[in-house]
Amino acid sequence: MTLIAPSILSADFSCLRSEIKKIEKGGADMVHIDVMDGHFVPNLTIGPVVVSAIRKVTDLPFDCHLMISEPEKYFHPFLDVGIQYISMHVEIKDKIEKCLDMVKNYDTKFGLAINPETPVESLNSYLDRIDFVLVMTVHPGFGGQKFMEKASLKVAKLRENGFKGLIEVDGGINEKNAVNLKKMGADILVAGHFIFSNDVEKAIRMLR
Ligand code: DX5
Ligand code: ZN
Repeated sequence: MTLIAPSILSADFSCLRSEIKKIEKGGADMVHIDVMDGHFVPNLTIGPVVVSAIRKVTDLPFDCHLMISEPEKYFHPFLDVGIQYISMHVEIKDKIEKCLDMVKNYDTKFGLAINPETPVESLNSYLDRIDFVLVMTVHPGFGGQKFMEKASLKVAKLRENGFKGLIEVDGGINEKNAVNLKKMGADILVAGHFIFSNDVEKAIRMLR
């Protein structure tokens, strides 16, 4: 079964509690939280303070996607909140081993996210040690961008190469491109704009 992870980047931040309740009621499987530092990506969003506040709102699993240059500095603050999935970017190579080490003491799945222009081979030396790959199908930084089909082919490539972990896809996902993503072997679909600009329950059902 495909898991649906609404990205709260497209939610109304003036009422996060009711937005999270809405996706919970609509059948979401987890909450995708986009963490940006204004350095790795040209945008600033959410930190551990806000993640800790919204942890009280729902029991849905939290999926924190760290688009930050220094994930090792903030790993513990995020993990200590009680999150179920955490990903950092494979482009920040020199921090991966340290973060892999840090996550060992937690019951949190560890993933590596990969930008559209980064070759899938850059994941090779980590694939047997990570729980999931997050394939980006837009340039990270903003919601509501156009889906990049070419980047999505990494899902098929990872499966061809025998990757047994979870594959999450993130960026520009709608009911049309979701069909092929599932066929190629995606397990988790992230969607922000598509879910929050439609009837939430119906949009989640269409993606699944
Ligand atoms: C982009 C983020 C995505 C984004 C997805 O940097 O990682 O999670 O919120 O939003 P949509 O579905 O609107 O592309
Ligand atoms: Zn994301």
